[in-house]
Amino acid sequence: MSSSENWISVAKLADVPAGAAVAVETMGLQLALCHVEGGTVHAIDNVCTHAFALLTDGWFEGCLIECPLHAGQFDVTNGQGQGAPIDEDVRAYRTKVVDGDIFIELPG
Ligand code: FES
Repeated sequence: MSSSENWISVAKLADVPAGAAVAVETMGLQLALCHVEGGTVHAIDNVCTHAFALLTDGWFEGCLIECPLHAGQFDVTNGQGQGAPIDEDVRAYRTKVVDGDIFIELPG
C-alpha cells in the first residue's frame, strides 16, 4: 500500500460472509459492508439519506439493501437510491480485499 493512496483496512473478510451486510465504524465514518452473494464486498455509507436509520438494520438481498424505517432501497454496488422515498444516493467507496482484509478508499 503506497502512501499516496488513501486505502484503510476496515474489517476481515471472514467477518463479512456472503449475503451479509455488516456495520463498521471507523475514522468517523459509519459504513455498511455488503458482501453480494457470488460477488464481492461493497462499502456504502450506512446512514440512510432519507431520515435517520442504519441500513444494516434493514434487509439485504442481491445487490439491494432496504432501509428498516420506510423501506427505501439502495444499490450497494454504487450507492444509488432506487426511488421514493429516497431522493439522494448514499456515498459508495471503492473496495479491495488483500490477504483476507477488506480495504476502502477514503474520499479525497
Ligand atoms: S429513513 Fe430510510 S427510507 Fe426513510
